[in-house]
Formats: sequence, C-alpha cells, structure tokens
Amino acid sequence: MQYLAAGMAVTGSGSASPAASLDNHGLSQIVDTSDEWIATRTGIRSRHLANAQESLAHLGAIAAQNALSMAQVAATDIDLILLATSTPDDLFGSACQIQAELGAKHAVAFDLTAACSGFVFGLITAAQFIRTGVYRNILLIGADVLSRWVDWTDRRSCVLFGDGAGAVVLQANENDRLLGFALHSDGCLHDCLNVNYKGKARPLTQGMEVAQGTYQPISMNGKEVYRFAVNRVPEVIEKALFQANLSTADIDWLLLHQANQRILDAVAKRLKMPAEKVISNMANYGNTSAASIPLALDETVRQGQIKPGDTIAASGFGAGLSWGAAIFQWQR
Ligand code: COA
Repeated sequence: MQYLAAGMAVTGSGSASPAASLDNHGLSQIVDTSDEWIATRTGIRSRHLANAQESLAHLGAIAAQNALSMAQVAATDIDLILLATSTPDDLFGSACQIQAELGAKHAVAFDLTAACSGFVFGLITAAQFIRTGVYRNILLIGADVLSRWVDWTDRRSCVLFGDGAGAVVLQANENDRLLGFALHSDGCLHDCLNVNYKGKARPLTQGMEVAQGTYQPISMNGKEVYRFAVNRVPEVIEKALFQANLSTADIDWLLLHQANQRILDAVAKRLKMPAEKVISNMANYGNTSAASIPLALDETVRQGQIKPGDTIAASGFGAGLSWGAAIFQWQR
C-alpha cells in the first residue's frame, strides 16, 4: 500500500547482550595485556561475548522486541525490518530469521552491511522509505557478533571488540524528527580495517576454477583508523548540523559509535561539547560495531537521561572505510 509522504520519528529503542562477559583481567589470561593498558588506551573494561548457542538473529530479535514494546507497536504492524550487521548467522542474510522470530509477517526484511557505520547508514536508508511514503513503521536493528571474526591471538585488536544488539522503531510522523545527515565512504582506505575473504583455487573442469575458503580474522591498522576517526567524525557531524541549520550548542547529546573513549574525547573537544553531553558505555561493552549506537541510545533512554524532544547528534564510523552522521530528535 502506498501512503502519503511523511516525516520520520524515532519512537522506541531496545537492546540485548550475550549473558557472558569477559573483563580486562580475564583477557590478560589470553593475550599479553593488562587492565591498565586497555583502560587507559581505550576506556574499555569489559565486553559481552556470545557463546556457540547464541545466534545473532536471536540477539537482534530480543533488542527488536524491547524496542517494539517501548514504541507500543505490534510486530504485525511493521512494514520493513532492516538489519545492519557485518556478522550474519547466514551469509544470505539474517533479517528474515528475525522477521520470523518476531512474527512480523507483513514486513519485508533484509540485511545492510556498513560495518560500524551500519546503524547510521540504516537510519538514513529507513528515512528514505518513510519520507517517500512507501512505509510507515520500520524496525532498524544494529547487531554484531564480531567475536566470531576477532583474531584472539592479536592483542592490538582483540581487546577492542564485544558482541551485542540494539534496535529502534522508526515511524511516519507529521513532523520530521530527522533534522540532517551526511554519509561518506572511502574504499581507498579499505586496507585499514577489514575481514577479507580468502579462497583457494579449486579446479572444476579444464581451464575452470572457483575460489573456496573463508573469511580471515579482523585486520586493523589502529593508528590509521584512530587518525581517520578524529578527523572525519567532527567534520561529518558539522556537515549534518549545517544541513539541519543547527550548531553544536543546539545538541543535547553526542552519540558516537563506541570505539574508543579517546576518540570520543577528541571529537567532543573538536566540537567544543562538554563531557556531560557525551554518551559513553563502552567501558562495559567494548566496540559492538553496528550495535554500539542503538545500544548506548537505549541505555541512556532507559536511565531517564534522554528526554522526548532532545536533539541527538549520532555518528558512526569504521570499516569501508565509511562514516556518517545523523541529527535527530528523540520521539515524536
Ligand atoms: N596490551 C598491551 N600492549 C599493547 C596492546 C595491548 N592490548 N596492544 C598493543 N600494545 C603495545 C604495542 O605492541 C606497542 O608496543 P611497542 O611500542 O613495544 O611496539 C605499544 O603497545 C603501542 O602500540 P600502538 O599500536 O602504537 O598503540 P596505540 O597508542 O596506537 O593504541 C589502539 C592502539 C588500537 C588502542 C589505537 O590505535 C586505537 O584505538 N585505534 C582505533 C581502533 C578502532 O577504534 N578500531 C575500530 C574502529 S570502528
């Protein structure tokens, strides 16, 4: 069914984490590291890790269910489920499994991959369907189980990542609560952060071969990624603010991808935003990739800190390389 064009509002949030968590002391039993090194360089103290029985789809479905309850929307009223993930249970996509688990039988469902920018890219993708009047109720889930692809012998990267899921309900609304956005990609920097496929030649017939193998563990140039984030993130937020005709003084909350506390501090400093406006929960979760923004949003909302009408500047950044920002108001 075709509806009239509308604005978009973020009307509910939810999140979910695997039950088990591993703190820095536990990690130092696995690789040569320490709580002191990890905490001072990253701000991370602990991370949740999914076990072999926990699926990405189930984590995503719990987060989605919590978001639906907050928004008071029935799963059967959802038109579209967008799953931002780089770690699906099924390479063909995991969004349909979430659709089935929720019983969202009228929803079309598909995955979207943009690594740690996935939630922001998904938010803007969802907005196009709502603004053009195609759909009225969308469930956007950011979920990742990067522990499956971490090199657990590489202390430079394994200390950073954790698993989790976050979700928001996005609804057509008289007033558009998405005030501005900007998205970017630079594939020339792909080597800085990736999970590459590596296949071995497998001959089929004379002169015909295919490449079969698997994905390699996360490969990262930490210094380059750090430099990229502290330069590009303030820039993209300023671009989105300009589009929204706002300044940093109008922002109630800075909601960055939870990669590293030092990145958050540097970005906030560049934007001249005080620490009390910067949302940070990475100490307990680490970098949960596409889940980190909705997870931090949900926690802050449920703690009663974010209030209806508050203006939030969200920014995701990561592999691709990709980066983006969205300025939106919480709820109708
Ligand atoms: N524990 C103890 N020592 C460690 C360590 C660990 N977990 N990881 C690295 N080191 C050591 C290195 O071996 C190096 O030792 P050396 O000088 O004897 O060679 C030293 O610490 C400094 O390493 P370096 O890689 O230069 O550290 P850094 O200051 O760049 O910090 C990161 C490393 C990963 C914390 C930092 O680069 C970063 O946060 N980058 C961004 C990564 C990111 O956010 N990625 C995801 C984006 S979505």
